[in-house]
Amino acid sequence: MIIPSTIGKPLSSTTFDSAAVESAGGPGLPQERRLVTAIPGPRSVEMHTRRGAAVSAGISSTLPVYTADAGGGVLVDVDGNSLIDLGSGIAVTSVGNAAPRVVERVRRAVGHFTHTCFMVTPYEDYVTVAEKLNELTPGRHAKRTALFNSGAEAVENAVKIARSATGRTAVAVFDHAYHGRTNLTMALTAKSMPYKKGFGPFAGEIYRMPMSYPFRDVPGISGKEAADRAISMIEKQVGADDLAAVLIEPIQGEGGFVVPADGFLPALSEWCTANGVVFIADEIQSGMCRTGDWFAVDHEGVVPDLVTTAKGLAGGLPLAAVTGRAELMDAVHPGGLGGTYGGNPVACAAALGAIDTMQELDLNAAARRIEQLALPRLVAVAQRSGRIGDVRGRGGMLAVEFTVGGGLEPDPATAAVVARACHAQGVVVLTCGTYGNVIRLLPPLVIGEDLLEEGLGILEAAILAA
Ligand SMILES: Cc1ncc(COP(=O)(O)O)c(C=O)c1O
Repeated sequence: MIIPSTIGKPLSSTTFDSAAVESAGGPGLPQERRLVTAIPGPRSVEMHTRRGAAVSAGISSTLPVYTADAGGGVLVDVDGNSLIDLGSGIAVTSVGNAAPRVVERVRRAVGHFTHTCFMVTPYEDYVTVAEKLNELTPGRHAKRTALFNSGAEAVENAVKIARSATGRTAVAVFDHAYHGRTNLTMALTAKSMPYKKGFGPFAGEIYRMPMSYPFRDVPGISGKEAADRAISMIEKQVGADDLAAVLIEPIQGEGGFVVPADGFLPALSEWCTANGVVFIADEIQSGMCRTGDWFAVDHEGVVPDLVTTAKGLAGGLPLAAVTGRAELMDAVHPGGLGGTYGGNPVACAAALGAIDTMQELDLNAAARRIEQLALPRLVAVAQRSGRIGDVRGRGGMLAVEFTVGGGLEPDPATAAVVARACHAQGVVVLTCGTYGNVIRLLPPLVIGEDLLEEGLGILEAAILAA
């Protein structure tokens, strides 16, 4: 076995070896699962000990193997283990880690300039990213885009824009929603532990509505009926006249990959249009080819007024966006939006490389192929295991919900056991859900079929052994 030369070398700047960069990650890495130590291995354990003394305990890691290289469908750790990546760094590296077009654009950009601040002296790549997002997001109306650093920042700005454009203050959000960790987005997020506990007081004028969650909803309720239930609550508790925006993840991410019943999103969107309310689709996890469409709302032909993107947008570099109707985006006074780093030139170059990759490799088709391969296997293992209540998702955004005896009672303990077993076998899976009982799959959309099948086999075995 040949271990790439970077493995095991400390990554600190004092010992940085520029030659090693050339031979590092990307799709050229052997696309194989390879365990050469226990998981985590000794070097990871050593780094984890250093981390404990240096990094805030408030930041945790799902799997403390320290990464040396990554690409295609694998992560290689500092001990030389090669793990199958079914998480993409939480839906970020959809185009693969160190994707060639991203690396090439970033290298070129970083050698020209690293920052000017778009609000001081602008640059072309920012404008090009905006043009691309205006073109790719749903609807053929005139659009504008503003760029930010993180998903939470994009959501905050979408709310600012909706309030500024409508002159209204209230925002309706949903059960199980996750929108970020800043003060406003904590208020928009549903789950207390770990996201909100002890961090209040939170921003006001946020109203939580019932979500369409078919597995846990009133049996037989349609998407339209679930939307009417939420709308009726909004009308009674807030009043359309005071409502600036309805903010929703078209497929919920951290809340458990909840796919609302068909008809739910179109009915909400239509009501918003009829009442002058801004319909904001938070596509930060579900957007950019993840579900087999550019955006999850495309599945039902919904055209949001504002769309937030981040995660998959820039192949791993921090970049986020709000894209939407020109009249809303331009309603904000000049200087009202922005930020020192928003739309950093290197991150914009990365986004252009990532979008090229999505188009050239047709990653929407790749996501649909992942669903075709994985969904039937998940359904079959659910039937055999008796510990799974629901299998759901779309494209490369799939999940299994663990419940006691396959009923409704959440079973987070089994989800944790299964996740740990996968990790020990070198397969990176993530958990999520309001009840912590969901295992979600978010593979890089460029993952090879053999590797995906192998990862699924290990997951299945772990489920059946739990
Ligand atoms: C739907 C959604 N919105 C917002 C966010 C926040 O993004 P960030 O972590 O980049 O702030 C996330 C992150 O998981 C998300 O999934």
